[in-house]
Amino acid sequence: MSLQIVSPTGGIQPLLRADGVSLEYGGTRATHDVSFDVYRGDRFVLLGPSGCGKSSLLKAAAGFVKPAAGSISLNGAPVRGPGPDRIVVFQEFDQLPPWKTVKENVMFPLLMAKRVSRHEASGRAMHWIAKVGLAGFEDAHPHTLSGGMKQRVAIARALAMQPEVLLMDEPFAALDALTRRKMQEELGRLWEELRFTLLFVTHSIEEALVVGNRILLLSPHPGQVRAELNSHQFDLASAGSTEFQAATQRIHSLLFGESVDQDAARVAEARDRSAAP
Ligand SMILES: Nc1ncnc2c1ncn2[C@@H]1O[C@H](COP(=O)(O)OP(=O)(O)O)[C@@H](O)[C@H]1O
Ligand SMILES: [Mg+2]
Repeated sequence: MSLQIVSPTGGIQPLLRADGVSLEYGGTRATHDVSFDVYRGDRFVLLGPSGCGKSSLLKAAAGFVKPAAGSISLNGAPVRGPGPDRIVVFQEFDQLPPWKTVKENVMFPLLMAKRVSRHEASGRAMHWIAKVGLAGFEDAHPHTLSGGMKQRVAIARALAMQPEVLLMDEPFAALDALTRRKMQEELGRLWEELRFTLLFVTHSIEEALVVGNRILLLSPHPGQVRAELNSHQFDLASAGSTEFQAATQRIHSLLFGESVDQDAARVAEARDRSAAP
């Protein structure tokens, strides 16, 4: 019997796979033929300008939106709807029911999923509230918290569910620059400790480089894959370095202009022409 190659990546199956995903709203195409693989422990970023379908792709991964073509699978099984294995953190501060305290907010999905007793949910909520730096605010209501604190609650609520993939849709976009930086740092710290799998959406090139280890670049109308890059070498500490600036420039031209390679080819061509007799 001949040897059978099971998978070209040496048998490592992606945790989340988008395969040729086209999404439509009333016949209008939001994304076209988008494919990507997220592996366990990845911090995978979908990056692109407004309208390129980042949120739609995240909603499809969450199971809220069904692809018009292609498929999304988790651990090899097709995603057919929302589930506790994929939890979303949104940008909006109003994602927390205002009548529930911080602790009640974090406990709520645990109780809804009927996975644990009220006692256990309470313990877990306290644990995760402390993890995101909100110990002492358990009984506060969301309206008494800052934007950054509300996002911390949303993160605690998501992580308490121990999802297979944490989905984040521009979670820090509405925060002031300093708080945003702080939250990126906190997310990095949590990831270092817990090594969860993250699918993160942003339109900020800098944020993509800081948060992600892999970045998928999307162009709009309809959203299509421009390129996929590795970015594990960058973090907040390297932001501002020459390499970081160069990566930012390269992504910018990949997203908005001709590719850097095309630019280089054109420069070389012009040089050859002017050098010709
Ligand atoms: N609920 C909807 N109904 C109709 N069109 C939508 C809806 N949501 C998104 N779109 C359209 O799909 C495209 C992608 O939107 P979206 O996924 O929100 O992009 P992004 O998050 O990258 O800004 C846009 O052209 C947008 O107008
Ligand atoms: Mg969006």
